[in-house]
Amino acid sequence: MIYLASDHAGFTLKEEMRKYLAEKGEAVEDLGTHSEESTDYAIYAHKLAEAIQKNPEAKGIAVCGSGLGISMALNRHNGIRAARSMSVEDAEMTRRHNDANVLALSGRQTDTETAKQMVDKFLTTEFEGGRHEARVKNIDLK
Ligand code: RB5
Repeated sequence: MIYLASDHAGFTLKEEMRKYLAEKGEAVEDLGTHSEESTDYAIYAHKLAEAIQKNPEAKGIAVCGSGLGISMALNRHNGIRAARSMSVEDAEMTRRHNDANVLALSGRQTDTETAKQMVDKFLTTEFEGGRHEARVKNIDLK
């Protein structure tokens, strides 16, 4: 399952990613927002974090204007590793080394084609484990 979340500034790119993933046959659930009406990215970040905590095998795509605010709110939750990414390489490395479970995108700085490539890389890249396992376990506060 891939959960999607955004604020108003990420709404359009989230819509594009929702359609793209659905066309590819992925199971997606859109947690909002559902329009360009101004709202607060933290509301949707918390919804997404809770959905993944209940379904830890799932991944998320989160979008706000910059990708920054929504990733900050997501990363307040244990078990959530949201990576604000600006390149395909970011999307790959954060899977390989950080076992990121949320890809946070910028709706204002990342174009649709680049976002599609980032999403593809994020969803198809495995965590390397090994020396990164203990490091990732050390992220959450007890
Ligand atoms: C909204 O204008 C914008 O501040 C928000 O989408 C996000 O970029 C914050 O980090």
